[in-house]
Formats: sequence, structure tokens, C-alpha cells
Amino acid sequence: MGLEKRHSNEETSSEYLYPPDILQTLDFSRSPAKFSPKISAANPGEDWMVVRPLQRADFDKGFLQLLSQLTSTGNITRKQFDERFTQMKSSGGYYVTVIEDKRISKIIGAATLTIEQKFIHNCSVRGRLEDVVVNDTYRGKQLGKLIVVTVSLLAQAVGCYKMSLDCKDHLIKFYNTLGYKCEPGNSNAMNMRFEEPS
Ligand SMILES: CC(C)(COP(=O)(O)OP(=O)(O)OC[C@H]1O[C@@H](n2cnc3c(N)ncnc32)[C@H](O)[C@@H]1OP(=O)(O)O)[C@@H](O)C(=O)NCCC(=O)NCCS
Repeated sequence: MGLEKRHSNEETSSEYLYPPDILQTLDFSRSPAKFSPKISAANPGEDWMVVRPLQRADFDKGFLQLLSQLTSTGNITRKQFDERFTQMKSSGGYYVTVIEDKRISKIIGAATLTIEQKFIHNCSVRGRLEDVVVNDTYRGKQLGKLIVVTVSLLAQAVGCYKMSLDCKDHLIKFYNTLGYKCEPGNSNAMNMRFEEPS
């Protein structure tokens, strides 16, 4: 492979889904979450850990294997991954955020903020928290809190008037500690399931 081509491939694989700088500006003191020891997206507490937007190269860093600890992912090819990455990036409003263990180049945590454009509330935007997962061997070390607080503060930073999530009953307490509440009379999640496309 020519030097120029290799250089451009390397640039593409390190391409971020959204600009990473915004994560450095998030003020963790605005979250009700209690961290002990104190950590944040900018300072995750270990020099081998980084909180950052999804990159194309994360196909090779176990991102999809991590998601499979949350739900079924299917057998996604590199081409499918690349196409979905390109679609998400060009449409905007997809903030897939990950934690990487740089010692082993593996994605160990992830959460997504998606943005819905609204007419209501003066053409405002609403955030949804999706696809939260921490690799099972890293659980119980505050990384779940770290990734959820990161995308929640991100939702505020990009102007959302609220952030919503669906979760299993046993995780309600976890999300309560991070500022999420079941609103009385307004906390029902309902689904209509369709067959998955083949
Ligand atoms: C939920 C999940 C992301 C939490 O990650 P984690 O890194 O273990 O979480 P933390 O270490 O930051 O834990 C934060 C707090 O939540 C509590 N907690 C974590 N997982 C919990 C669970 N499954 N049930 C109840 N409480 C839980 C912890 O005890 C801890 O409490 P503390 O602050 O009082 O010590 C992780 O268990 C996971 O990936 N689960 C599988 C996927 C999933 O269910 N995702 C959520 C979809 S809505």
C-alpha cells in the first residue's frame, strides 16, 4: 500500500463520530452522582483509560462484542459498521460515547445520547439515553456512572430540555442516583415489537 493511501486509511479509522473536545468541557460537579474517588470524562482516574466519541477503528476494538453483553447484535460486517457510522455522522444527533482501556485497545464501556428534533417547546431538542453497557469484568468500578453522567451532561451541553431512558426495574435505583426520576403518572414505557429485518 502506498504511503499516501495508508496515511488516509489511518486518518479514516481514527475518525470520530462527533468532535471529542466537548467531552473535556463537561462539568461533573453539575451532576448529583457521587464519585469516590472523584473522576470525570476529562479525568477518568487512570492514565490507561479514555472517555471519547466512537471511532471507526472501534470495530477492531471490541465495540460490537461489548454491545452483545447488552443485547443481540447479529453478525455485523465491517462494511455494515462503516456504513452505519457514516449515516450516523452525516445525519448528526448520534453521540455514541465509549470508554477505552488503552493498555489492551479494548472498548470497555459505552452509552449513546440520541437527539430528537422537536417543534414543541420552541423547536427544542430532547435527548434519549440508549445502549448503556460496561464490560462485565470492569463492573462495580464506577464506569457505569462515568459513562451515563458523561452523556447526560453532554445532552445538557448540546441544549436538550430533557433526557429520557428506558430501563429494567432493578436499575431504577442506579439511575436515581444519577439524577433520573420516575415522574408520578408519567413513567410508563410501552413498546410495539416488529419482526427484525432479515
Ligand atoms: C448497569 C451497568 C452499566 C452498571 O455498570 P457498573 O460499571 O457496574 O456501574 P457502577 O460501578 O458505576 O455502579 C454504580 C452504582 O450502581 C449500582 N449498580 C450497578 N449495577 C447494578 C445493577 N445491575 N443492579 C442494581 N444496582 C446496580 C452499583 O452497586 C453502584 O452503587 P454504589 O454507587 O452505591 O456503589 C452494568 O451493570 C451493565 O453493563 N449491565 C448490563 C447491561 C445493562 O443492563 N445496561 C443497562 C441498560 S438500561
